[in-house]
Amino acid sequence: MVQAPLTTLPTDLVSLSDYARYAPKHIPHAIYEYIAGGGADEVTLNRNRAKLDDLHILPTALNDSTQGTTQTEILGEVWRHPMMLAPIAFHKLVHPDGEVATAQAASILETGMMVSTLSSVELETIADELDSPKWFQLYFQQSRDFTLSLVKRAQAAGYSALVITIDAPLHGIRNRAQRAGFSLPEGVSAVNLKDRPPLPSASFDLSQSIVFQGMMSEAPTWADIQWLQSQTDMPVVLKGILNPKDAVKAQSLGMAGVIVSNHGGRTLDCLPSSIEMLPKVRAAVGSDYPVLFDGGIERGTDVFKALALGADAVLIGRPQLYSLAVAGAMGVGHMLRVLREELEVTMALAGTPTIDEITDEYLV
Ligand code: FNR
Ligand code: LAC
Repeated sequence: MVQAPLTTLPTDLVSLSDYARYAPKHIPHAIYEYIAGGGADEVTLNRNRAKLDDLHILPTALNDSTQGTTQTEILGEVWRHPMMLAPIAFHKLVHPDGEVATAQAASILETGMMVSTLSSVELETIADELDSPKWFQLYFQQSRDFTLSLVKRAQAAGYSALVITIDAPLHGIRNRAQRAGFSLPEGVSAVNLKDRPPLPSASFDLSQSIVFQGMMSEAPTWADIQWLQSQTDMPVVLKGILNPKDAVKAQSLGMAGVIVSNHGGRTLDCLPSSIEMLPKVRAAVGSDYPVLFDGGIERGTDVFKALALGADAVLIGRPQLYSLAVAGAMGVGHMLRVLREELEVTMALAGTPTIDEITDEYLV
C-alpha cells in the first residue's frame, strides 16, 4: 500500500537521505523505479555519489564566521543560497498538487526553481506560485515554431533565463524503469505540449536505423541552439555539459552559462561523474563564467565540495521528488532548509563563512 503524504514530520526525518529512505513507502513501485533509476546498468549514477564521497574537506580553524552568509549572485540575480531546484518532469507522479506544491516550498525558502518543459502543471501556473528565481528548462521540439512558442510563453510568464537541456535528445536505455513496467499514469501528462503539432509519420527500410534516422533526426544541433538564441533576449544556459570543449564552445557562442551534469546518470551510461568533470570545465572557461552543477547532491558537504571545485551554484534533483512524495510542500520546504543549514554548518566549521572563500584549497 502506498502511504499518503505525511502531515507532520517524524523525528527521524532529519536529512535528505532520510527522505530517500521514506520515499519508497509513498511512491508506487514502478514510478519510484523511474525516478530513482538511471541509465542502463547505472554505472554513472553510482559514480556520481562515489566520487563525491571520495572528496574530503580540510578545514582551517579559529576563524570568525559572524559575518557569514550563503548569499550569492547568479546571472545578475541575488540568490539567498547557491542552490536551485533542478528541472524535473511530472511532479504529479508523486503528489496530486505536483509542481504547485514544489513552487510554494521553493518560494518560502527563497530557493529558485527550474521548471521543466515536461511539467505536469502549466508553466504559467507554476510561475504564478514562484517568488524566487524562476528559470525555464527547454526541451527542443521538432517544430521550430512550436519551440519558439514555448520560449515566448516562458518569457511572458516571467521566467528570467532559459535552460536548454542538451544531453537527452533520446532517453537512453532505462533498464530499471522498463523492468518495473513504468508508464505515465492517467492524469499525468506533459501539459505544456498539448498543442504540439503531430510528428510526421516515419517508416524505415532495413538499411536505416530507428535510432539515427528515426529518433535522432529530431535532435537539435549547435545551429538550432544558435538560432534559438538569436530569437530571444533571455539569457541561455546549456544543461548537460561534461566535455570542457563543449563548455568553451558555449562560452564562445555567447551562452550565459553552462550546467555541468550527466542528467543524474539517466542518459548515456558509463559517463564520468559530473564532479570529476567540474574542475576541468571550470579550468577551460576561466573563473568568471557562470558554471552550475548537478549530480548526487544530498548533503551540505556535497554543495561545499561542488563550490570548491568551481561551481557557482548547484541543482537539487531527486531529493525534491522524494520530499514532495513524503510530505508535500512541507517536505520540500523542510528538505531545502536542512540542506541550507547543513551548508551553513559546513562553511562555519571549514572556516569559509562566505561563498567566495570556498576553494579547492579546502579539499583533499
Ligand atoms: C530529471 N532530469 C531532468 N532534466 C531536465 O533537464 N529536464 C527534465 O524534464 C528532467 N526530468 C527528470 C526527471 C526525473 C525523475 C529525474 C530524476 C531527473 C535531470 C535533473 O534535472 C538533474 O540533472 C538530475 O536529477 C541531477 O541529479 P540528482 O540530483 O538527481 O542526483
Ligand atoms: C528524464 C527526462 C524526463 O530524465 O529528462 O526522465
